Amino acid sequence: MAEPKTDLTADVAAYYTRTLQEHGLTPRGVDWNGEDGQRNRFAQLARLLPEAGFSVNDLGCGYGAFHGYLAETHRDFRYIGYDVSAPMAQAARDALPKDGVSIHETATPTEVADFTVASGIFNVRMGRDPQEWQDYILTTLDAMDAASTHGFAFNCLTGYSDADKMRPDLHYADPLALFDHCKRRYARNVALLHDYGLWEFTLLVRKTV
Ligand SMILES: C[S@@+](CC[C@H](N)C(=O)[O-])C[C@H]1O[C@@H](n2cnc3c(N)ncnc32)[C@H](O)[C@@H]1O
Repeated sequence: MAEPKTDLTADVAAYYTRTLQEHGLTPRGVDWNGEDGQRNRFAQLARLLPEAGFSVNDLGCGYGAFHGYLAETHRDFRYIGYDVSAPMAQAARDALPKDGVSIHETATPTEVADFTVASGIFNVRMGRDPQEWQDYILTTLDAMDAASTHGFAFNCLTGYSDADKMRPDLHYADPLALFDHCKRRYARNVALLHDYGLWEFTLLVRKTV
């Protein structure tokens, strides 16, 4: 069942409902420039996962492209996708197989899985104050942690981007501050990946079980 949306998540939902309406089930439909970048991000996040035999929450699943990636590279997994945009969640339901897949229209994970990943949910700031957006990121990370028994991973645009390339509508996070936050708050084993050729970074948080 859909949960009530806050003003902030309602704005997020409206933004991505529009990108889907304009560009359909394509990388541009979830506001990426193209498939290469989308798959590059998936490859970084997937470094958290074993080859087979796991469950994964995908927070901000879009039309479910990460499921398609995993189907090529991994085996025997259960995929639980979440999207705050109702049309996006429906697009994922329609596009993905029924077996081993559940899709929910929510802004936080509602099932506990082995792992949780989030690709691209912290980038477009919806005109919010950077501090409010930072608080939203930290609250969402707490929810991802609570929903993951083995670990979680996410990406953000990097504050190390060239100043002349930065856009006022996007949020550029501090990789070192978020690494420190994850290490102190969630787990001893945290990896910061900032070497894959995009203006962003990925954090992998591995919990000891
Ligand atoms: C940049 S798109 C990426 C989609 C997908 N992860 C991919 O890489 O193909 C972000 C998606 O996350 C959704 N989203 C953003 N914040 C969310 C949240 N807190 N909870 C659930 N969905 C969210 C948006 O509606 C959008 O479909």
